[in-house]
Amino acid sequence: MKIYNICFSPTGGTKKVADIVSRGFSEQFEFIDLTEKSFDNNISIKPDDIAIISVPSYGGRVPEVAVKNIMKLEGNRPYKNFNCVSMVPKPTNKCNKCGLCATKFPVGAIYINNPKNVDSSKCIACMRCVYICPQFSRKVNKVLLSGATLALKSVCSERKECELFI
Ligand SMILES: Cc1cc2nc3c(=O)[nH]c(=O)nc-3n(C[C@H](O)[C@H](O)[C@H](O)COP(=O)(O)O)c2cc1C
Repeated sequence: MKIYNICFSPTGGTKKVADIVSRGFSEQFEFIDLTEKSFDNNISIKPDDIAIISVPSYGGRVPEVAVKNIMKLEGNRPYKNFNCVSMVPKPTNKCNKCGLCATKFPVGAIYINNPKNVDSSKCIACMRCVYICPQFSRKVNKVLLSGATLALKSVCSERKECELFI
């Protein structure tokens, strides 16, 4: 039996939890990072293996891009619209176009040839670019940020019970 820790964690919080859960099963687990590249279908998970798949929620939904090759998401169809488009981080003049943000994320919202150009329709507002930028150049509009902070405080103030989908 093998343990797989399959994780999408743009700013590291989900990974911390996934690592703890995985270690609860065994110190020996294979880590598959979905943050930088899509799931490689060459990995074959056998019936007696355990796969711990962890993905954060944005705007009340799991980003489909993160899990599209692994599992069929439960929930309503059509898939809930993404309502965080206004939270797209923008580069400030500290950006030196190093391109790290464009290479370290699979959705392709930031163009490698011109990292100052962001495709808002592809951005999932996960804040990975803010987290990894060595120049601390990516910023979210302060007013929108305080609005989102208030909304998240209320959404996250109560414990959510686990749900089991089989
Ligand atoms: C734009 C945005 C929207 C979010 N929406 C939700 C949400 O609807 N529900 C929730 O529980 N958490 C929400 N969060 C919180 C993230 O799920 C949380 O920060 C998570 O730890 C991020 O994972 P990471 O640290 O692995 O990147 C949101 C975060 C951001 C940046």
